Amino acid sequence: METKFSIIKDVKEDEEKIREAAEFIKNGGTVVFPTETVYGLGADALNATAVEKIFKAKGRPQDNPLIIHVSSKDIEPYVMEIPEVANKLINKFWPGPLTIILKKKDIIPNVTSADLNSIGIRMPDNEIARKLIELSNTTIAAPSANISGRPSPTDFQRCVEDLDGKVDCILGGMQSDVGVESTIVDCTVIPPIVLRPGGITLEMLKEIESSIEIDRAIMEKPKEGLKPKAPGMKYKHYAPNAKVTIISGERKKTIEKIKEMVHYNIEKGKKVCILTVEENVMEYTEGDCIVMGSMFNLATIAKSLFEALRKCDDLKADLILAEGYKEEGLGIAIMNRLNKAAGFDIIDV
Ligand code: TXA
Ligand code: MG
Repeated sequence: METKFSIIKDVKEDEEKIREAAEFIKNGGTVVFPTETVYGLGADALNATAVEKIFKAKGRPQDNPLIIHVSSKDIEPYVMEIPEVANKLINKFWPGPLTIILKKKDIIPNVTSADLNSIGIRMPDNEIARKLIELSNTTIAAPSANISGRPSPTDFQRCVEDLDGKVDCILGGMQSDVGVESTIVDCTVIPPIVLRPGGITLEMLKEIESSIEIDRAIMEKPKEGLKPKAPGMKYKHYAPNAKVTIISGERKKTIEKIKEMVHYNIEKGKKVCILTVEENVMEYTEGDCIVMGSMFNLATIAKSLFEALRKCDDLKADLILAEGYKEEGLGIAIMNRLNKAAGFDIIDV
């Protein structure tokens, strides 16, 4: 299939290009588009045949439900009921990186929800995304725009790398600002539960509804036979080609341990990449350092995390050694993604 590329600089000036992309959606096609979290691979969520194309393009398991994206807060056409807590979250955090799980109406085909009776919904903050949804006159189902299992793409080029020839259109915008996928809150249960940590932190959610808890199981290595509540939060995910190991603990000790491991592996002829921060980079004299941001600003790290993992692939790394982060605030989302990329291989020093 030939893929059409369109770069959007300004939503108003480039509206015609977004309209062309919307035509693909209306005709049951697939369009990659930017969002503030990561790029999405979209199709008309109400058209089962169109949604099947998403699964095919990504090589995504059929049992993994999709999130639907809306351009307004009016979600009544898609869900059975909107509990008070969901309303509060929507009013506070939409548009933005928060997905809410609610009981779905029959208008959502089973392929979109992977046969669940619930659906994840979010209103993205990115203007290109919202314009595309609005002009498509529907709700757009969109997983991250990567080949299943790979790190999610946060810029146009990475989408092209994974999906050129597999989708009808790729819309390019800015690099995704948040860099990790949306926080998912299941509002079909009381108290509501966080199924995936993301850009909206647990602390921010608790300010609105103190009873919200995080599903602790998502931070631990999945136990045999235990089914995760969000089917997509399964074992291997966000994985670069190289083996990833996280080294976590007090700063000085972490750096010493990484240096030792880098040296040992380079001696053995391995290509080693280190995922580090501005403050630590001078400490490493061997291996390839990839600086993700500042340890005093976790948002900078979240923003460049997936891109850093993909860079390690570009460098043909055999081994990636990543510094660990405290599991609080955005650190929960960062460690969740790192843990998955590492298959929970973590060394505490
Ligand atoms: O930030 C995001 O949410 C991005 C952008 C494109 O919007 N999308 C995204 O979609 O991350 P995806 O498909 O890569 O991840 C969706 C996650 C999966 O873990 C899936 O299992 C979970 O959401 N999910 C979707 N619907 C669900 C439901 N009804 N119940 C439980 N988990 C659900
Ligand atoms: Mg994904």
